[in-house]
Amino acid sequence: MLLLAAAAACAQDSAPSDPALGAGDPAWLAYNAVQPAAVFGAESSVPDTIVALGQDLLEQSAARELALGWRGMLAHVPRVADGATAAPGNRQNLVVLGTQAEVRAWRPALVNGPSLGPDSYRLRRAANILLVEGGDARGVLYGAFALLRQIAQQHSLQALDIGSAPWAAVRWTNEWDNPNGTIERGYAGPSIFFADGHVRADLSRAAAYARLLASVGIDGCAINNVNADPRLLLPENLKQIARIADAFRPYGVRLSLSIDMSSPKAIGGLSSFDPLDPQVAAWWQAKFDQVYRDIPDFGGVVIKADSEGQPGPSQYGRSPADAANVIARALAPHGGLVLYRGFVYNHHLDWHDMKADRARAGYDNFHKYDGKFDSNVIVQIKYGPIDFQVREPVSPLFAALPGTNEAIELQIAQEYTGQQRHLVYLAPMWKISLDTDMRASLGAPPLPVSELIAGKSVDGQRHSLGGFVGVANVGAEGWLGNPLALANLYSFGRLAWNPRLSAAAIADEWTRLTFGNDPTVRAIVDRLQMNSWHIYESYTGPLGLGTLTDIIGIHFGPDPESAERNGWGQWLRADRQGVGMDRTVATGTGFIGQYPAPLAAQYESLQTCPDNLLLFMHHVPYTYRLHDGKTLIQYIYDTHYWGAQAAAAQVPAWESLRGKVPDAAYAEVLKRLQFQAGHAIVWRDALTRWFARMSGIPDDLHRVGNDPYRMVAPAMKLDGYTTVDVTPWETASDGKAVVCTGRAECSLSFTWEKPDGWYDIAVQYFDFRNGASQYTLQVAGRAIGSWAADAALPDNRINGNTSTRYTVQNVALHRGDTVRLLARPDGREPAPVDYIELTPSAAVEPQ
Ligand code: GCU
Repeated sequence: MLLLAAAAACAQDSAPSDPALGAGDPAWLAYNAVQPAAVFGAESSVPDTIVALGQDLLEQSAARELALGWRGMLAHVPRVADGATAAPGNRQNLVVLGTQAEVRAWRPALVNGPSLGPDSYRLRRAANILLVEGGDARGVLYGAFALLRQIAQQHSLQALDIGSAPWAAVRWTNEWDNPNGTIERGYAGPSIFFADGHVRADLSRAAAYARLLASVGIDGCAINNVNADPRLLLPENLKQIARIADAFRPYGVRLSLSIDMSSPKAIGGLSSFDPLDPQVAAWWQAKFDQVYRDIPDFGGVVIKADSEGQPGPSQYGRSPADAANVIARALAPHGGLVLYRGFVYNHHLDWHDMKADRARAGYDNFHKYDGKFDSNVIVQIKYGPIDFQVREPVSPLFAALPGTNEAIELQIAQEYTGQQRHLVYLAPMWKISLDTDMRASLGAPPLPVSELIAGKSVDGQRHSLGGFVGVANVGAEGWLGNPLALANLYSFGRLAWNPRLSAAAIADEWTRLTFGNDPTVRAIVDRLQMNSWHIYESYTGPLGLGTLTDIIGIHFGPDPESAERNGWGQWLRADRQGVGMDRTVATGTGFIGQYPAPLAAQYESLQTCPDNLLLFMHHVPYTYRLHDGKTLIQYIYDTHYWGAQAAAAQVPAWESLRGKVPDAAYAEVLKRLQFQAGHAIVWRDALTRWFARMSGIPDDLHRVGNDPYRMVAPAMKLDGYTTVDVTPWETASDGKAVVCTGRAECSLSFTWEKPDGWYDIAVQYFDFRNGASQYTLQVAGRAIGSWAADAALPDNRINGNTSTRYTVQNVALHRGDTVRLLARPDGREPAPVDYIELTPSAAVEPQ
């Protein structure tokens, strides 16, 4: 990694015209036109003056935002006035913004009802006034955005009276950005904060991001990778980082940093970073005093320690509480928080040991320190005990820290859920974690995780702190790359504000704000979003196995073997007889015993364990019958075929929206859904082949390993192409593909021997991150398709990360025709090919 350079060098950094930064994608703040009369009763009742009672920066932002909304949604140009200008007695229609104290000072008679807490707001109509009242300035800003949400959804404001308070104090995103401008597990281009070792010169995207975050009530953002570069804390770099805090400030987003526990030694010149060493404590104190001089509203720190190679207190025989507290004491005088991650585990586990279990680690490492953390420390716990898999049970650690502040860590970036190339709306999954009942005994009142993180503990006590952290990893390309993935960022904020909202309601809100109120658009987009997680889970990791991807690499394509026989502990324990980790108390690792008794009892028994978590909790034979009577292995086959079909059906559903959503979003989503449809086939084929070989049990419906429409490349006539083995074998037909090396052009061909007809022809090839090989598909000497392998899939090897397809529909084929694929490799990408599939066209429309 490059050293961060001094401030002076920054001026040469990315210029404002940097194309990667774009014009500032509005995301859900699209402010599409609505019918003013539907909202205000009559066009003439639209308020034409916005009165901002306070001078606070946030209230000014609120007023500016309302003006933007008025312009976009209502085609009005409102006047923005202050309280003095809008004199009492004025009969104009006004929107008035202010804190409760400011409203009282302006017109005491306007104030009624209980006083509002921090960040809270109330929206109400009082005669000719639409009042946005905040408990504080941040509440005013959130209230303004809430009012705009009402208008965007065309809700009538005639009898408006809505009060709202945030569920929990902490509502942060984490961004895993590196100083060199890359983002760990980021899937939408380069960092909006850093480039080439500097803070970017143009931080307009950072400001635009803070605006998006504020619009859904997020008030904190840790801007750098949890695998932190300690040099970010050097004085010259803090000065640069302060500029990002400046960009966030008008939207009330407090900047935070991920820090490296070894900083006192790594950059401070001390010989140790032992948290109990007074010199170390003094170093942290001086460091944070300096941080607050540069960034007065600094939010606090995120700490990843003793995890995946990061240094930590265990080096000195100290506990997570010792480590968290030394920092917490340095932050406390300034009001800063420590978010200490519960993601601490040993990645050198002995896979031979049937009692070893990574899932146990969070609980085992933390519950004994309950009550030992300072009051400004929050333990930040991933929703599941492993690592952001497509499905996990909720982490038992949530119920094991009654004397400690907790936050749930959710991942907005789709690391294990298709990396934004697959559509996966995550709110339904998050809701399951948030709603899981952690009560200590049957008969006690329900205690969902959402309550625990809001500060309510299993013994009924309340802590002052807690909340939500979302790992967003937004980048310079459309925030999350896939326009539909923005629903995940949106829903994270909405759930952090109110976890009782339903995933479906949030999806619909997002659709309306983004694409407008057209019922057809809403119906289709909402359905796509709400079905997407289940579809993805079906063809990736069913029954609680986790995402069966390359767990020690890119985390994208299929590679179930990668989970086995290594120290990382994501074992499937698949053998000839069955699959799944035995985590029972009776015969397994005992993990289930970490849950409160009612939940433990449910998971321990095969009869009551939900099927969708079965293989997380139990080792089960392939012939075991699930609750619906199907055998385990047949369920795995069926669900993969169903999932791939369902992924394909998303494409025509989206195509029906052509012209009804903005063209750029339409094209971007279409491209991704088409890719997903092809990649779902790659997943389906790889996993069904793998399970068929592992179990030795054939598919009752004879689909697995039986592809009558496919011509595998090695069996064709090859000109220049050579056959290579593919690893993992299940990601290509018969474990083989062909490559073109040492030649400028190669080809493969075969003669069509089947009846004349109309066919869809799919070429299954491999598209590396680097290189853009050229392909041309010919039938009877005529080119029917020509394309470049330039999708930059996230690998430079032939495997399930790079396997993709190009399809030409409705091609007329006659017996005796030659089907030929011509290919030109590019750089180190050898124009690899797996197979060509020719399926009879569904609806034949000859042109
Ligand atoms: C995952 C992810 C890592 C990340 C880690 C974390 O394991 O793959 O890139 O550093 O989570 O949350 O710390």
